[in-house]
Amino acid sequence: MNAERRFRLGVLGSGKGSNFVAIADACAAGRLPAEVALVITDVPDAGILDRACERGLRAEYLPPGKFRSKLDEEAEAAYIAALQAAQVDLVVLAGFMRIIKAPMLRAFPLKIVNIHPALLPSFPGLESWKQALEYGVKVTGVTVHLVDHGIDTGPIIAQAAVPVEDDDTPESLHARIQRVEHELYPAALARIFAGDLKIEGRRTRRVPAA
Ligand code: GRF
Repeated sequence: MNAERRFRLGVLGSGKGSNFVAIADACAAGRLPAEVALVITDVPDAGILDRACERGLRAEYLPPGKFRSKLDEEAEAAYIAALQAAQVDLVVLAGFMRIIKAPMLRAFPLKIVNIHPALLPSFPGLESWKQALEYGVKVTGVTVHLVDHGIDTGPIIAQAAVPVEDDDTPESLHARIQRVEHELYPAALARIFAGDLKIEGRRTRRVPAA
């Protein structure tokens, strides 16, 4: 991807959409060379739909099909078709609560990015802030990574640490993590758009232009 043009983002989300808001507002303010081309949700009353509509962005609910933790075959084909029709350069998962399977990975190779509320490889999966509290770590964090065939296993773009306080509840820790997410996700996307990331296995590094 080169830095001259505006990248077209397809955002998938299932929840309140605070990360989407951080990204959409960074695009609107010119802090990212990108625009949100399409928002898709698998939850008909998800907050992310309202946040997109308030901003005049195209957003739609697409039924996920018969499974709980992934899109079924027909649904996945519909998601891919919608993203391709919107000519997105990058698929941005912003609280999308379903596993991405092979057809979408093939349609968007190394072009699907996710934010995870922990310092991977610690605490993959669901409710990572609760896992961190239960384990008793003193530092957790946020990871932005490319999506591969595993669960929260893809190449890491950016990470930031978040302290765990003695009196934290799951809610207070998640709120602190989310404040960091809203900074880190746009910053990680900026790294991707800069176009000089080299990906070797799970490792990404910046390669200065020759
Ligand atoms: C975030 O905590 C993100 O890390 C996780 O899902 C949550 C989405 O929150 N993947 P929001 O909908 O962006 O507010």
